[in-house]
Amino acid sequence: MVNYHVANVTDDLFVLRVDDRYTKYFEALWEIPEGITYNAYLLKTEEGDILFDTWKRQFSSTFLEALERVTSPDKLKYIVVHHMEPDHSGSLEDVLRWAPNAKVLGHPLAGRMMNAYPRAKAKFAPVKDGQELVVGGKKLKFIHTPWLHWPETMMTWMAEEEILLTCDVFGAYGIPLALFDDMCIKKENVIRSTRKYVVTVIGHYREWIGRNIQKLENMGIKPKVIAPAHGLIWRKNVEEVVQIYKDVASSKPKDNKALLVYASMYGTTEKLARGLECALTKEGFEVATYGYNDTARPPLSEILTDASDSKVIVIATPTYEAEAFPYLKMVAEELCWKVGDGKKVVIAASYGWSSAAAEQIKKILEGCKYQAVEIVKYNAVGPTAIKDEEVEKIAKKVVEAVKG
Ligand code: FEO
Repeated sequence: MVNYHVANVTDDLFVLRVDDRYTKYFEALWEIPEGITYNAYLLKTEEGDILFDTWKRQFSSTFLEALERVTSPDKLKYIVVHHMEPDHSGSLEDVLRWAPNAKVLGHPLAGRMMNAYPRAKAKFAPVKDGQELVVGGKKLKFIHTPWLHWPETMMTWMAEEEILLTCDVFGAYGIPLALFDDMCIKKENVIRSTRKYVVTVIGHYREWIGRNIQKLENMGIKPKVIAPAHGLIWRKNVEEVVQIYKDVASSKPKDNKALLVYASMYGTTEKLARGLECALTKEGFEVATYGYNDTARPPLSEILTDASDSKVIVIATPTYEAEAFPYLKMVAEELCWKVGDGKKVVIAASYGWSSAAAEQIKKILEGCKYQAVEIVKYNAVGPTAIKDEEVEKIAKKVVEAVKG
């Protein structure tokens, strides 16, 4: 059964939210056991109704059911497409089959992305950055916010109501029971799922987060309500969600947080990693540890989320076919892609007969301006091959490099 909600945001503005408990890997990449919601909005006016975005296509029939609770085909005048990614545009063609006279509004670039949406393309009218639309006494302003999360993405500002419809921006993973942030929520879960969403979905375009927030501020836009297309609607802690986005965009580190990621085929590197974790904890670090071994494959989405507010990153890799462990190469590449540069990195590598693994991780990370402050290599195969004294010695070296 598909769970969905239709509720008032104001007397005239409704949220239509579906809870997607089925997607395990968002964008076929990011592990989201917490699920995700898709939020569309419907504004009722005396001259006709305006729909902002839709849901992922697999929920189309349920979306029409939800829509029928608040409008009808003869009343639907406009569909505003903030963003063409199919988690928001996927039901567009089905909505236009249902309400064929509705006009479709979006940034000109959205029109160029509508080849797979012939009905939408036929009804499309571009709107410019800053363009206003008055319908039935309601005034809307469209604001182009490029790269949040695609080049065509825009927001809608309802100045009189002080509501900002933001699509992906200020969104989060998770399916909170509540619709609004002033209801009963698990705050720490919401903050974590918001951070995780920013890092994984928008992280690559992080510099645009600050730029677009500045653009909104320069336009004098100070929303009382932020209504995103994923997660909670913010009407109590509006400044807090904006700050979360700013902090993740700049990869703002906590003073005492370290991320430790390792892989271990036969226990050697795991033994060292446990020693490193222990030594760092003793030094007062909050250590987020993730290990790949023959029973665990930690989620990349969580590793990247912990990387973004870590002060230092420690990577411990075995040598695999004369190179770094494959998953750790991927972690290093995604650290470059999704998380801000400039953080300190310490690399430890075990080897049997070839020792290029550490240099390989270093090369990837230095290529995107991380600072590799220490490299430790040790020749060992198997958990008993690395002695306690050696673990202690390496841990001491790593702690000094981390603190230095
Ligand atoms: Fe939620 Fe970029 O789509």
